[in-house]
Amino acid sequence: MHHFSYIDGRLHAEAVPLEAIAAQVGTPCYVYSTATLTRHYRAFADAFADLDATICYAMKANGNRAVLRLLTGLGAGVDVVSGGEMGLALAAGAPADRIVFSGVGKTKDEMAAALNAGVHQINVESEPELDALDAVARELGVRAPVAIRVNPDVDAATHAKITTGKAENKFGIEWTSARTVFRRAMTLEGIAVHGVAVHIGSQILDLAPFEAAFRKVRDLVALLRADGVTIDRLDLGGGLGVPYHADDHTPPPPSAYAAVVARTVGDLGCALTIEPGRAIAGNAGVLVSRVTYLKEGMTRTFAIVDAAMNDLMRPALYDAWHDIWPVVEPSAGVERHPIDVVGPVCESSDTFARDRSLPPLAADDLVAFMTAGAYGAVMSGQYNGRPLVPEVLVDGDRFHVVRRRPTLTEMASLEDLPPWLTDAR
Ligand code: LLP
Repeated sequence: MHHFSYIDGRLHAEAVPLEAIAAQVGTPCYVYSTATLTRHYRAFADAFADLDATICYAMKANGNRAVLRLLTGLGAGVDVVSGGEMGLALAAGAPADRIVFSGVGKTKDEMAAALNAGVHQINVESEPELDALDAVARELGVRAPVAIRVNPDVDAATHAKITTGKAENKFGIEWTSARTVFRRAMTLEGIAVHGVAVHIGSQILDLAPFEAAFRKVRDLVALLRADGVTIDRLDLGGGLGVPYHADDHTPPPPSAYAAVVARTVGDLGCALTIEPGRAIAGNAGVLVSRVTYLKEGMTRTFAIVDAAMNDLMRPALYDAWHDIWPVVEPSAGVERHPIDVVGPVCESSDTFARDRSLPPLAADDLVAFMTAGAYGAVMSGQYNGRPLVPEVLVDGDRFHVVRRRPTLTEMASLEDLPPWLTDAR
């Protein structure tokens, strides 16, 4: 459920008309809803209240500083995947002891920064990484608190580009070598082994793959404990999906997901971490855009909008569907026609929707790309010289521009001409 709805014929974020935000901030812009973020975080917190669990929001989904501040203020920890994310999380006020650091390619510098900051846990994904972390920790005279990510070889039945728990994926330690790696980790002076981590993919709409993966984790914990390995933590990753499309079957609620966790690994006496990203931020955000032109092509009609693939990459990258809602509510019974909604970027993959059945659109109309709160702004770039899109947080009847649109001067200021070219004109 989210808090974007029509009030008096105008699409609002909570109590704020999107027209008012567009008028002040310009388009395109991302708009996030505090009430929706809060509701989703609380749904996880309540579902896991009876388990010893920390909800470490996966900030890769949406690393906006206000979103982080809001969620950590509600009690969330943060799952980070780079030194950059860790620095930004700390700057947003996330307590280090609620940060878990995941990712397949942590550098030694990133490891040292994480150990110096005192993060709760580092999830190790390979033997070379384990050795590197051991060396870094010993150099600093500390022991790194570690969970070892295993690859359970479970099919999450989601898009191939966001599947992570199959044997052919780059993530985690191969299931069959897990015992050997854990046993060796126990002998390393710089490593304090705490637990097992898994993450099988994203936008998962069924509980069965989670159940299969968690059962495998349970079996592994029994074997590891029999080997004398201390396992007092489990990190179960993220992955619960959100509805993007009316035909998607409704994803299970956090309570059903928590019930699977409880019945598979709930009695192992481990402190649990879960890392939801999309399920918290996904439908808490929209991308507001204005129609620039309506163009009758040779065979189809195009609505050319001022947002583009660099602002919301998901359709170009994964053929993802985002609902498109006109900001002025279409009158009941209005005829819908198939239309292509495209951005101004100079390539054909800059297409948000093909043959989308929409009410008539005209130049200057505002539209909202729905469910754009996760993997939207964070994945954006400046292709075609397009400034990064501003991000606005709404709370009730107020809103605030958390990240403003950079000026061209700011964009250019990161570049410096070589001296031999400065006088060339
Ligand atoms: N934990 C780990 C280790 C992850 O790799 C991910 C996501 C998460 C947690 C959070 O997963 P979530 O709860 O959000 O599903 N850009 C893609 C999604 C990539 C997900 C990568 N890993 C998209 O737009 O669909």
